[in-house]
Amino acid sequence: MPIPARALAALAAAAALAFPFPAQAEPGDRQVRVWAAACAACHGTDGHAQAGMTSLAGRSADDLYTLLIEFKRDVRPATVMHQHAKGYADEELKRLAHWFAAQAKR
Ligand code: HEC
Repeated sequence: MPIPARALAALAAAAALAFPFPAQAEPGDRQVRVWAAACAACHGTDGHAQAGMTSLAGRSADDLYTLLIEFKRDVRPATVMHQHAKGYADEELKRLAHWFAAQAKR
């Protein structure tokens, strides 16, 4: 018996609710790659910045997360990062931090 598309969609939605995103980003986490692409303009592809800009690749996830939260809460002086950080939920910043930490250092 064919399964109606609507039933499949409902199942997918239920699965998404049952399995919220993991606390630690996997390297294959597509959503976090999309977010990280927005950082690439300044911090380089996969966090490998050009000279003169801060690289994010391979740094401690805890450190990156702390920096991002401080930007978001306006407790760390910033020219632009306070704006960027505010665009993400804390949990999303954590996924970004873990994703950049998982990138090989160059
Ligand atoms: C428009 C350029 C730009 C974009 C886009 C950008 N950043 Fe930044 N980032 C900066 C600048 C400039 C700083 C230094 C702090 C400041 O002046 O805001 C910085 C600093 C940081 C730092 C602190 C590094 C350190 O060691 O002090 C982190 C972490 C960081 N950015 C993460 C990100 C992430 C994650 C994204 C994407 C969501 C992102 N940035 C997008 C320009 C950018």
